[in-house]
Amino acid sequence: MRFGHFDDARKEYVITTPKTPYPWINYLGSEQFFGLVSHQGGGYCFYRDAKMRRLTRYRYNNVPTDSGGRYFYINDGGDTWTPTFMPMKKELSFFECRHGLGYTQITGTRNNLRAEVLYFVPLGQTAEVHQVTLKNEGSTPKSVKLFSFIEFCLWNAHDDGTNFQRNFSTGEVEVVGSTIYHKTEYRERRDHFAFYHVNAKVSGFDTDRESFIGLYNGFGDPDVPSAGESKNTIASGWSPIASHGLDVTLAPGEEKKFVFVLGYVENPRAEKWEKPGIINKQRAQQLIAAFSSAEQVSAALGKLREHWQGLLSSFTLESGDEKLNRMVNIWNPYQCMVTFNMSRSASYFESGIGRGMGFRDSNQDLLGFVHLVPERARERIIDIASTQFADGSAYHQYQPLTKRGNNEVGSGFNDDPLWLILGVSAYIKETGDYGILDEQVPFDNDPNNAASLLEHLKRSFDHVEKNLGPHGLPLIGRADWNDCLNLNCFSEDPNESFQTTGNRTGRTAESVFIAGMFVHIGPEYARICEYKAQPAEAARARSEVAKMERAVLQHGWDGEWFLRAYDFFGNKVGSKDCPDGDSKILIEPQGYCVMAGIGVATGEAKKALDAVKERLDTPYGIVLNNPPYREYHVELGEISSYPPGYKENAGIFCHNNPWVMIAETMIGRGEQAFEYYKKIAPAYLEDISEIHRTEPYVYSQMIAGKDAPRQGEAKNSWLTGTGSWNFVAISQYLLGIRPEWDGLCVKPCIGKEVPEFTVTRKCRGATYRIHVKSTGGTGQVKLTVDGKPIDGVIVPFAKPGSTVHIECEAS
Ligand code: BGC
Repeated sequence: MRFGHFDDARKEYVITTPKTPYPWINYLGSEQFFGLVSHQGGGYCFYRDAKMRRLTRYRYNNVPTDSGGRYFYINDGGDTWTPTFMPMKKELSFFECRHGLGYTQITGTRNNLRAEVLYFVPLGQTAEVHQVTLKNEGSTPKSVKLFSFIEFCLWNAHDDGTNFQRNFSTGEVEVVGSTIYHKTEYRERRDHFAFYHVNAKVSGFDTDRESFIGLYNGFGDPDVPSAGESKNTIASGWSPIASHGLDVTLAPGEEKKFVFVLGYVENPRAEKWEKPGIINKQRAQQLIAAFSSAEQVSAALGKLREHWQGLLSSFTLESGDEKLNRMVNIWNPYQCMVTFNMSRSASYFESGIGRGMGFRDSNQDLLGFVHLVPERARERIIDIASTQFADGSAYHQYQPLTKRGNNEVGSGFNDDPLWLILGVSAYIKETGDYGILDEQVPFDNDPNNAASLLEHLKRSFDHVEKNLGPHGLPLIGRADWNDCLNLNCFSEDPNESFQTTGNRTGRTAESVFIAGMFVHIGPEYARICEYKAQPAEAARARSEVAKMERAVLQHGWDGEWFLRAYDFFGNKVGSKDCPDGDSKILIEPQGYCVMAGIGVATGEAKKALDAVKERLDTPYGIVLNNPPYREYHVELGEISSYPPGYKENAGIFCHNNPWVMIAETMIGRGEQAFEYYKKIAPAYLEDISEIHRTEPYVYSQMIAGKDAPRQGEAKNSWLTGTGSWNFVAISQYLLGIRPEWDGLCVKPCIGKEVPEFTVTRKCRGATYRIHVKSTGGTGQVKLTVDGKPIDGVIVPFAKPGSTVHIECEAS
């Protein structure tokens, strides 16, 4: 069942009923100021850091779900309603939510009054604009009252949700004309405030939540809108809000627009006050002036559209498959950009108070956005590398506001260092900017202990090599990519975190997955060393990689598939020999070892992928492991803590399905790769939205697997490495176009189902028009470049400004 449709021409998803199976959200903002907005107007916004600079309050896991947002109440002759459906849930004769790239427009009609609310963050501004358009579609004049409503968060979202003994006494506001200023804690250490403004004369306002809503009421039955009269309250402690009251008269057919600006301002310490106790509002006034008219709003929205148009033009696909086109051209890169901005911090499944930026996550995210924003990718690499420790290990996460490692989570995830090499090589292949390797980058943010980025990569490489276990495979540490495979944790105490607890210390638990990563990523390091005229170091790296490959084939091969790991006691994890009731095969090493090329020439790769097909494939995607763990295994940790079929215990992890897709292309099975692709790509799942439940335009991290009662149901949409890895799989391996060290590789491997397509790829300033005829999915290609046949699959990089025409026959 569908709950809307794609509007590809406008690059929007159009939701046509408020009753979607879950709140379907969108993101506003692309630089410093961000908002989340659901199809019912729910959500919140923040400046740079969802935890530390939260402007508006949101209560997760609330009842009803998704209550709290930027709301507009309309009192039309005593009938009070909300055009976003929530929170008043009055019946609407028309409802539509258009989620576009960086903006959302929600329209509701009732009693011949059409109310359209447009939400977006203009480029270069630290503010959200909410434009409300009211239109009288009836034949008699209307006089209505419009009330805006937002609830301020007292800045630090975690403290705001916990520290009530203090917070109920700190709230402060100022009101001047049509602007409400939120200045809690500004008198002390904060140099920032927020404001909510409307470009019209107000008939009243409110800033005290209890007075506006009523202590025993909810957002759905608020006192002031129902009474039709603002109370002009000034909050003192408790819960400051901002609400404007507006009297609006509309002749039949008449339309009026109101522009609301929800802004964030920082003042230098010396310029904080206008006079004692009164905040300096100069910067706020400038922001307000920038959006005082509907024309300014439409110009800003136009710029935002152009911005996205520009970004998305770096890779475009024309094919006969409209679902594929909309994934590749619009929604997948859009999701990649959102993960660039958010990492794993704020979604409807991530509360914005926990996880900051992941070292592993951010490096992988980069693979999906480096071609869109190369300069910002460069900055991101330096930020990430600056949190690395001198021994090559890494903080698992860092906070975006401070850019410092997060001590609470610490380090010891032994896959982390390698992802940095992958991120840097993707960046250099995209840009040709080898100069980044010479950047001086601190360790653990200590400016007195810095080294070149190249040296950071060396330490990443060496960290693996210096931490090998009894079989010559990498020690896993706290966990590898699978955060839930905690082989040194041994926790019997529910108050302990699986990720940060290490009750046993030993150098025995090994990861075949990290070994696969090392074989995949190590050669990239070697190639970088060659470029930097360090042939001896390159040779050393290559010989370590070869050694690792041998170790995998000798100790990491189980006969029909790759083992997952050796546990603390040296027992095999993910083996046919594991007792019944335990998992016998896990997905990660199958995908990753084959991606690394291990066993491709000698047949193990094909066997492993056949085993994936036979044991892990389901109608909704490939499950992580099979069978699921039925009991808690203290020696395996969190993986065995989930009920069968969910998350890392046999859920469909959409993040590592693309590793298998890429692996399939490595052995020339493009058709199989595309079949796996379509199983999890959201646009292909639109018709089963009632089962899938999350947004049909973005990937979710996990879909419940075949052992779960709710098989096919997705969770954790938006912020997941799934976005970038699926983009890598489809664009670089199935459509087959990717920058390599010496040129653009063109090697489609998708099969007959997409018999003909054209990709326009911009890279290093040149444009490549690649026309492909695809008669098979074996990965065999013949290329003609500007009319001349070439050998191989690498098209040398062309001069900036030039256009290269490539004809490709893929069979
Ligand atoms: C984390 C990833 C991790 C994955 C698998 C995600 O929630 O963000 O870092 O690789 O789970 O455990």
